[in-house]
Amino acid sequence: MDKRVVIVIGGSKGIGRATAELFHKQGDQVMVAARDTAKLAELERELPGLVSFAGDMTASKNLESLFDKTVKRFGKIDVVVLSAAPFMSKPLCEVSDDEWQQSLKYVDMIFRVNRAAARQMSKQARGGTVVNISSRAGLREDVLPNSSVYALIKGGMTHLVMAANQEMRNVQFISLCPGLVGDTEMGQRAVAERPGIDNGESLSAAEVAQTISALVEGAGPKTPHVYRLTRELGLEAIESPAQD
Ligand SMILES: NC(=O)c1ccc[n+]([C@@H]2O[C@H](COP(=O)([O-])OP(=O)(O)OC[C@H]3O[C@@H](n4cnc5c(N)ncnc54)[C@H](OP(=O)(O)O)[C@@H]3O)[C@@H](O)[C@H]2O)c1
Repeated sequence: MDKRVVIVIGGSKGIGRATAELFHKQGDQVMVAARDTAKLAELERELPGLVSFAGDMTASKNLESLFDKTVKRFGKIDVVVLSAAPFMSKPLCEVSDDEWQQSLKYVDMIFRVNRAAARQMSKQARGGTVVNISSRAGLREDVLPNSSVYALIKGGMTHLVMAANQEMRNVQFISLCPGLVGDTEMGQRAVAERPGIDNGESLSAAEVAQTISALVEGAGPKTPHVYRLTRELGLEAIESPAQD
């Protein structure tokens, strides 16, 4: 069988990097997008065959180019993992216009990534899977103080996933909502900026990557598409698939 083609957006560090490493180890053709050219060059050296794409993925031209280049080079896209995100822990009243405008670019990116993947995958006989890395902070039961912008982005992501799954049978959209992942830069920032978050209970990026891989393997129209992942309770499906 031919290799699966996997795009990881935000794969230079953290969960995205662990995911790129795992898919590469499993024999997939991996394409990694991020901004840090030194880290991308290091990944290409360490993981032969992996291809990197440097650029800010909130710029729509870069995103279009990533998808175009992947299809031109490998002929298809089987899996997209969207891991890139901003982090902000601030009371609503203190969020500046600049910070909001910057955050809005990520909302735009979430829409464009899912639309580009859906357009390509829906043309493919075997469809494809889009894994959106959301957060438990975007779930109704788990929202935290000082997270209005983050919760808006992550909650919106999960709702896009639920709606998109009702439109297509051969493209699976997944929202994975992890709790604290303590061994990434973002996780360490969350611990520093959100007193009360218990680092002792955190997940690791490698564990999240294993879950992403398992969810991609099992994804189908009759499987759930929204999951919470925590150290305490493991993986929980928190949305039922739409009925026929
Ligand atoms: N860590 C946690 O506790 C936690 C918990 C729940 C959910 N999550 C979610 O999991 C995902 C990954 O988090 P993480 O902890 O692995 O974060 P991280 O270590 O900060 O990594 C983020 C990745 O996204 C890339 N990125 C960010 N903005 C980008 C942009 N505009 N264009 C291209 N690449 C961009 C970064 O690379 P460059 O800097 O090279 O561009 C990096 O590779 C995020 O969606 C986050 O919200 C994290």
